[in-house]
Amino acid sequence: MSLKLAPTNRHDSPKAERRKALGAYYTPPALVDHLIQTALGPVIEAACRQDDPARALSALRICDPACGAGAFLIPAARRLGEALAGVSGFDVDFALKEVTARCIVGWDIDPEAVRVCRRALARQAELDDSAVQVSCRDALWVGGEGMFDAILTNPPFLNAIERRKDSDACLRAAYPELGGTADCALYFLALADRLVRPDGWIGMVLPRAALGATAGDRLRRDMRHRPREIGLLAQSDSFDDADIYVTLATLGPAGPATVVDGARHASGELGDPNWWRGARTLLDGPATAQARSPSAAFQVEAGMTVGEAYIAARLAADEPAGAGQRLITTGMIGLGECRWGERPFRFLGRRLSYPRLAPSYEAPASLVRRLERSTRPKLIVAGLARCLRCYLDELGECQGFVSTYHVTVDGDALDQLRALQTFLHGEQASERFRRELGASALGGGSITLTKRFLQDLIR
Ligand SMILES: C[S@@+](CC[C@H](N)C(=O)[O-])C[C@H]1O[C@@H](n2cnc3c(N)ncnc32)[C@H](O)[C@@H]1O
Repeated sequence: MSLKLAPTNRHDSPKAERRKALGAYYTPPALVDHLIQTALGPVIEAACRQDDPARALSALRICDPACGAGAFLIPAARRLGEALAGVSGFDVDFALKEVTARCIVGWDIDPEAVRVCRRALARQAELDDSAVQVSCRDALWVGGEGMFDAILTNPPFLNAIERRKDSDACLRAAYPELGGTADCALYFLALADRLVRPDGWIGMVLPRAALGATAGDRLRRDMRHRPREIGLLAQSDSFDDADIYVTLATLGPAGPATVVDGARHASGELGDPNWWRGARTLLDGPATAQARSPSAAFQVEAGMTVGEAYIAARLAADEPAGAGQRLITTGMIGLGECRWGERPFRFLGRRLSYPRLAPSYEAPASLVRRLERSTRPKLIVAGLARCLRCYLDELGECQGFVSTYHVTVDGDALDQLRALQTFLHGEQASERFRRELGASALGGGSITLTKRFLQDLIR
């Protein structure tokens, strides 16, 4: 399971820029083989148990809705052809023609990928290209339910920022089970759940973040197909310009799940809609103790919105001493210390050694109000870090940048803020942080802290 994703073949794989826009990272054979075994295997076995297995196998419909050059469909056709030959007396070549023409369906939004896939499938089965059911379409707009016995796919991984904005609102309306910030891979998971018969199987490559992302909570809770195997892969550092962890997910009819993490594995019910947390609980056992914060009177707010950050970066001055608030990025926050003045501020091509921000007529009213509110004691918590880290701004002279949070307390009681800092830096809070949000870790291991988690933790 310590496998990596990389473009399989330089000729099949689109050029880097196009690959990034389409989320087109083709799947290496070892990962494909694994998902064919876990997701197509049970479908073939069930067909072979029928009274007329040859007829049942020929009637199967297997789809890759983002087929690329056919990394899944080509070996799936072979596997199905061998199974049909085994139960029918047909020779393997004839059986391969039969299943390729009848059972295998591929879609892709990229016409070039469709052409390559159609050609490769046809050539493998010695068929005419026109006999193969591979077509160019945007899979997310395909309607219908229960049309397939299995979906095998490595969908595009594109987050809400990378996706085309124009189609976003319509897509959200078509997939109400997903939140607005869902990664494209979650849309394909929702699509697969609709398109596959309730007793069918799904084998998918997913970004690890999709296991725990809040935008997918409802989908993961209500899906007809349940996780049956979650394979947590090691960091895919050969996944060219992407910097993420990936997962092999096999879903099928209700039943226990197996979680595989390197050499470790565990089986049981994955009842938790946060599959990452459920997987960690199966592997590591329940959390040692419920982390409890010292007080109930804390308030949490984001340091700044993304929109404000763009303006703040433009307006910030570079002054070791001055009237403005010190601008603190997540990377400047250490365990109880602040590296303002030691680590430069870099954003939008600006590089400042002593970034400061003062209210000005150029700043929007919301940012001016933030700056006014930040002149009080607070904890500034890093929003992107490997463990929980915060800095106590006793004098109220700092303003958190985007990806930070401000935590204040009624009456500005410093002893309460200190106690909270100790709690946040403690092992229990860190364990809960990794257990609940670790699915979103980037390649370097940094985890995105959410406001909801922080509020819940210190409530
Ligand atoms: C990660 S690649 C996977 C290709 C192939 N399944 C494989 O495993 O090698 C994702 C593919 O999705 C295609 N794609 C992106 N958006 C799509 C959409 N809305 N509908 C169908 N295909 C799409 C891209 O063109 C690309 O070929």
